[in-house]
Amino acid sequence: MCHNNNQFPYDEDNFTHNINRLNERKLDRRGFMKTLVGAAGLFAVSTLPWGAVAAKELMSLGDKSYPKKAITKVNKLQIGDSVKFTYPGEHDDALLIRLGENEYKAYQNACTHLRCPVLWNKESGDMLCPCHHGKFDVRSGEPTAGPPRRPLPEIFVKVENGTVYATRVKRYEA
Ligand code: FES
Repeated sequence: MCHNNNQFPYDEDNFTHNINRLNERKLDRRGFMKTLVGAAGLFAVSTLPWGAVAAKELMSLGDKSYPKKAITKVNKLQIGDSVKFTYPGEHDDALLIRLGENEYKAYQNACTHLRCPVLWNKESGDMLCPCHHGKFDVRSGEPTAGPPRRPLPEIFVKVENGTVYATRVKRYEA
């Protein structure tokens, strides 16, 4: 028998087999995509609360809570005076200033320029940074003079049974 080289190599079995394989492959790919989408959905749902927490952190919308910490007895701090403390960590230097009978302000006092310690100046009523003559408003913590551009992080305080406590640190938008 003579074999024609130009003949189309039609073989029904092979042809059907190839179509089936193609379909299987399509189904496999579709199945894989479905699994992938399902997994992504599951991941999104399972991580939703953490995503929200992370977003809040990144946006700096929430104040930072720490265990409350006693700073001083009210009767140990005269109006117009200040006292140093640390909050929330041992290396987070801070200042509590008593502005009135029941008015207190507290800030982490590392200067927002180059971290020199900011001091309370009772006479001028300012918070001053001696390094480059930075100045901060005692009621808002906002910089009012010199190179600092960001406010001092405020620490919220409350008085309970004659003691002033630090309760949390205010967060600022970037
Ligand atoms: S470090 Fe405070 S003004 Fe520069």
